[in-house]
Amino acid sequence: MSTKNEHQDSGDALATTPPRPSRRRFLQSAAAAATVGAAPHLRAQTQTPIPAAPPAEVRSPVPGRPVTLTINGRAYTLQLEPRVTLLDALREYAGLMGTKKGCDRGQCGACTVIADGRRINSCLTLAVMHEGENITTVEGLASNGVLSPLQRAFIEHDAFQCGYCTPGQLCSATALLNEFRNGTASTVTADVRSRPPQLSDDEIRERMSGNICRCGAYVNIVAAVRAVHEGGEQNVASGSGSSDNRHNA
Ligand code: FES
Ligand code: FES
Repeated sequence: MSTKNEHQDSGDALATTPPRPSRRRFLQSAAAAATVGAAPHLRAQTQTPIPAAPPAEVRSPVPGRPVTLTINGRAYTLQLEPRVTLLDALREYAGLMGTKKGCDRGQCGACTVIADGRRINSCLTLAVMHEGENITTVEGLASNGVLSPLQRAFIEHDAFQCGYCTPGQLCSATALLNEFRNGTASTVTADVRSRPPQLSDDEIRERMSGNICRCGAYVNIVAAVRAVHEGGEQNVASGSGSSDNRHNA
């Protein structure tokens, strides 16, 4: 139990002992000292001109050269650098925006076109490599405004949602039907030495496996391809871009 005298003693002691700086006061003093110490440096920084960055290396562009591509039966002469992909040539130079750029690295199939009857990923190949070939894009599948059987089947079977993958799916499926008709085997064909006996759903799925659909319309895509195949309709896209060899239902 403290007594009045004890309080008085301690009060006296506080009165006689020099006051100790509080923690807050100490921090305030330290901060002020640091600011003062840094000030000359800051002044020096503001007064010293910052050396200008060296000029960026200017690379002379690779000169383009005229490249003639036959797309959907029409000749396009484009001024292309050698490094331009076929996909960019189609979209950015020829103005054919139907072919889509998805991954731009050969993984999604959105950029599939048909070159001389073969389906290829146009993002993985250079345009200059396809001079003299007949290239078919989705714009070349319809004939005089009449959709190809596959295009109609895609609509009838609801084989797309957002539609971004659809141009590639259509080109791929068009070439697929021709490949099967020509007796080309796939990795699920039981005996690759003989013609695949039928275009089963497994065959269609395998042959379309390079075309990704992020909307997941796979079931309906297979149904559309099967319907065209079973309907016996020919979807020949020889790459000529001409509709002469295409039969419409
Ligand atoms: S954009 Fe060519 S495969 Fe994806
Ligand atoms: S329909 Fe949307 S990605 Fe295939």
